[in-house]
Amino acid sequence: MGYEDVDRPQAAPGRVLIQVAATAFNPLDATMRAGYFQKEFPIRLPHTPGYDVAGTVTGLGEGVAGLAVGDTVIGFLLMTEDGAAAEFVLAPAGVLTATPASIPLTDAAALPPSSLTAWQAPFEHAGVRAGQRVLINGAGGGAGGTKRG
Ligand SMILES: NC(=O)c1ccc[n+]([C@@H]2O[C@H](COP(=O)([O-])OP(=O)(O)OC[C@H]3O[C@@H](n4cnc5c(N)ncnc54)[C@H](OP(=O)(O)O)[C@@H]3O)[C@@H](O)[C@H]2O)c1
Repeated sequence: MGYEDVDRPQAAPGRVLIQVAATAFNPLDATMRAGYFQKEFPIRLPHTPGYDVAGTVTGLGEGVAGLAVGDTVIGFLLMTEDGAAAEFVLAPAGVLTATPASIPLTDAAALPPSSLTAWQAPFEHAGVRAGQRVLINGAGGGAGGTKRG
């Protein structure tokens, strides 16, 4: 691990250049940095970590629709590509969404995988529907906290 200068990525077809406000650090980040999960997430070095991003759009590649320079976005980046522990990151447009207006941009970097997990568990895996009441055991952690409010 080290801090280095790298070239600023350039907007490319289907991709969005983001000036990073913040990234997050999940347990899986630590595991990957320790060299595990190479089979699941093959990474070539040198690699910029940080698969969560919150930031501001500064460039749009050809074919990107629905986003404009200056928009603030969050996203769950592709884990095998360079991440957001940098000033700029290039992201596929399809992994980005608008930043929630109710929380600071930097805080929003903590949302992407944890909020996705908090959504997928009850709605996609357990099939919970509107009107049902459920008990979620252990919801006081990172994933559970994203469902508050
Ligand atoms: N965060 C993500 O992005 C993500 C993504 C994919 C999958 N997951 C999975 O989702 C689960 C939760 O992740 P997380 O990030 O929210 O973890 P976390 O921040 O460590 O939170 C875990 C929560 O579970 C509680 N807990 C632990 N053992 C318990 C027990 N025996 N009975 C009741 N509660 C218990 C903890 O309570 P205490 O604080 O009191 O110990 C804590 O509130 C994990 O299985 C993780 O692998 C998370």
